[in-house]
Amino acid sequence: MTLIDGKKLSALVKADIAKEVESLKQQGYKVPHLAAVLVGDNPASQSYVRSKVRSCEEVGFESTLIKKDQSISEAELLDIVRDLNEDVSIDGYIVQLPLPGHIDPDKINLAIDPKKDVDGFHPMNFGRMTLGLPAYLPATPQGILHMLKHYSIETSGKKCVVVGRSNIVGMPMGILMSQKRDTGNCTVTIVHSRTKNVADEILSADIVIAAIGRAHFVTADMIKKGAVVIDVGINRVDDASRKRGYRLVGDVDFEHVAPKTSFITPVPGGVGPMTVTSLLLNTLKAAKKEIYG
Ligand code: GUN
Repeated sequence: MTLIDGKKLSALVKADIAKEVESLKQQGYKVPHLAAVLVGDNPASQSYVRSKVRSCEEVGFESTLIKKDQSISEAELLDIVRDLNEDVSIDGYIVQLPLPGHIDPDKINLAIDPKKDVDGFHPMNFGRMTLGLPAYLPATPQGILHMLKHYSIETSGKKCVVVGRSNIVGMPMGILMSQKRDTGNCTVTIVHSRTKNVADEILSADIVIAAIGRAHFVTADMIKKGAVVIDVGINRVDDASRKRGYRLVGDVDFEHVAPKTSFITPVPGGVGPMTVTSLLLNTLKAAKKEIYG
């Protein structure tokens, strides 16, 4: 079994990004600038956004964090989005999800200028990705493709089961893995809450990508010997022995699943760091106007 070290790979990619930022500066260009909008005080969202801002600092990007109270109206948030669209100093931005219940996330997403949509969530980018056109790829799926490629994991002709069908991870991941591309050409099954035999489907997979958001959902009896297991889950479970009162666990029961696998990602230190790094890569693309000119 090989542990896929997302932290180490992410450090390598960040070092390359930092070099490129230096070179841009020396050529007289401004450094890439990412903005993040955080609404409310969801602890997980706060932690993700902090990590995004910290990563910008690490590679020499500029970053702007816009924090708003849970009570912000949809109209006010739309105004912020429109301002960010207009602000020429900002290359790309994200609106951290989830949003409070009174705000329609689709409305916000549709208002984001696709040229600045470094999350890759806008229908323009999602559609372009699906058609195989240049697009900002959503960060988590992009990070997973990067890991599979770096570890020379064969995907062509393999059966890939994606657990979960979210717009952020499961759905785009299924599309990307099935595409005729370098890390792709899989036969993909997406399993979800209405799937009849989830365990049997997962058991048939050469590559399992778990993105369901339920602690230890994927257990050892669901894993074929030698499978590749990618764990997207970051779930907080109570743990009185920890100072902060919880620990982070994945969607996969790592302890019992790992011995059966050929490759597996840990939580933390697997997919998470690569997600943040992919967002930086998209921001660099935005600054260099690589997708839309
Ligand atoms: N919430 C969980 N993952 C993400 C992400 O990749 N982008 C945004 N904007 N919100 C998220």
